[in-house]
Amino acid sequence: MPATIASITEEILELKHRRHAVILAHHYQSAEIQELADLIGDSLELARKAREFSGDVIAFCGVWFMAETAKVLNPTRTVVVPDREAGCSLVDSCSADRVRAWRAAHPNDVIVSYINTSVEVKAESDILCTSRNAVAIVNSIPADRPILFLPDINLGNYVKRETGRENMRIWQGACFVHATFPARRLVAARSQYPTALVAAHPECPPEILRMADFIGSTSAIIDWCVSNPAREFIVMTESGVSHSLRRLAPEKQFHFVANEQCNCSECPYMRRNTLEKLRAALENLEPRVELDPELMRRAERPIRRMLEVK
Ligand code: 13P
Ligand code: SF4
Repeated sequence: MPATIASITEEILELKHRRHAVILAHHYQSAEIQELADLIGDSLELARKAREFSGDVIAFCGVWFMAETAKVLNPTRTVVVPDREAGCSLVDSCSADRVRAWRAAHPNDVIVSYINTSVEVKAESDILCTSRNAVAIVNSIPADRPILFLPDINLGNYVKRETGRENMRIWQGACFVHATFPARRLVAARSQYPTALVAAHPECPPEILRMADFIGSTSAIIDWCVSNPAREFIVMTESGVSHSLRRLAPEKQFHFVANEQCNCSECPYMRRNTLEKLRAALENLEPRVELDPELMRRAERPIRRMLEVK
């Protein structure tokens, strides 16, 4: 490990101890951040873990909406994120005003919101879901109730296909990273690695999902690749998952496909977080998630409903 990384790591561990902090990291963080984390997980695991935490500070190495969820579940704790600009294209696609307008026009609809939404949109929602539990959440809603699923079009269409649900309308948001994986590059990767199996995140477009041997959340993809007897995989998600994949299955080969946006498979929002910014966040307790108590109370209900289902 280069000296600078080693010394920043040491300072972070010392600050973590002094602040009585826990470090939570999403799979899309850099390897250095994942190495320091008390827990690495997908958005559902991180939401669950955030609920159980008992220290003073949560240093949330992920994107802002995930940290907001942690704050709603831990209103008395300080929640910091290394970079305030760690956002998400799905959050940007869906404003609370538009959701309120939908509610007014369709009062009988159940609003199922993906966790990749702002806390204001969560507060307008009936129940949340993540990529891991979206099918179970939609199946938990009485069949005669119309559903608005927001904001991810690809996840929504995947859930609609899996549940066979007819009365489900879907928002038109998309993930900047997954929605731009081109099918022709996956076709090329399959001919380059003919024995490889394909694992894909449900935010990928339908033509990618049709080629997948497995579809699931980031943690579900990791578990499936590790436990599957195959030796080679093409992984259609953010390449941060390679850290856990290589640690848990060093004997296997994992290939990633570049998207059209950056010619890579990294989320530019997630990758705004760095070790230096994590150190500064623990030192200054900024950027800090601060939310209105009434907004938190309203957002908590759909989050807890989700956690009760699965
Ligand atoms: P997971 O629910 O798989 O963690 O995904 C979150 C996300 O932002 C995917 O792009
Ligand atoms: Fe949002 Fe996509 Fe980045 Fe996930 S990978 S945080 S959905 S932009």
